[in-house]
Amino acid sequence: MNNKTEEPGELRSAFDKAADNALDPRCIPVKLDGPPPVGDQIPYPDYSADEHEIWKILFARQQELLVGRGCQEYMDGLKIMGFPEDRIPSLADCSRILEKTVSWRVSRTPGLLHEEDFFSQLGNRVFPSTDYIRTREELDYTPAPDMFHDVFGHMPMITNPVFADFYQKIGQAAMAAQGDDRRRLERIYWFTVEFGLIDTAEGMQIYGNGIISSFAEVQHSLTDKVKKLPFVPEVIAEQEYDVWHMQPLLYVIDSFEQLGDGFTEWAVGKGLLEG
Ligand SMILES: [Fe+2]
Repeated sequence: MNNKTEEPGELRSAFDKAADNALDPRCIPVKLDGPPPVGDQIPYPDYSADEHEIWKILFARQQELLVGRGCQEYMDGLKIMGFPEDRIPSLADCSRILEKTVSWRVSRTPGLLHEEDFFSQLGNRVFPSTDYIRTREELDYTPAPDMFHDVFGHMPMITNPVFADFYQKIGQAAMAAQGDDRRRLERIYWFTVEFGLIDTAEGMQIYGNGIISSFAEVQHSLTDKVKKLPFVPEVIAEQEYDVWHMQPLLYVIDSFEQLGDGFTEWAVGKGLLEG
């Protein structure tokens, strides 16, 4: 971490704050002690019949809920990924599809990754994914990362070439960022990759993976209870967020080109990416 000179309680990463609140070991960031398995190196776990059933329930329910609510780019990505309906997808298969589509690969992470490992993988077009699934008691909500969020939530958006390049740039910029700029990047990550909305000809739709993989957030995010502001990286970079409650404020892009170009301009201006 780069926080040694910071005041206690100030300017700490979301990852560190998550660890403070974590009664659940799945929420404590882990630092990799060696290179994680990537692509075909990732073994398929011996899932129980009940775990496959949990995937089946989540997949069917969320897919139906996203009709008209998930943005077209996400829905197209869902088709490209071609997840099986009745069994947990294999990360090796997912990696092959992403590699063929946008030259991204998948690695297996044991849980919530420490930010430096996480962002450096993104910067190299590798998406770290968990391979374990939530329990039946957590169908509606889990504070911990799991493969339903990582696989169903994140991977379809990565099949979009514009989003895929933006996502890599987030990783690259984060590797160059120190202190406050790292916090700013985390906020931009949160309000775009995880909780972004897009204004389309069909109305307001969702592309943020934290919303897409949550039954409650999909419904909540598009209501009037949520304040919606236009995507302005300088503003988002200063906006605090709370990971433990439904989101009261979201930011809206007009297009993925606006997202990619706006972010690049901001990061170049900060000296985090080459111009
Ligand atoms: Fe995520």
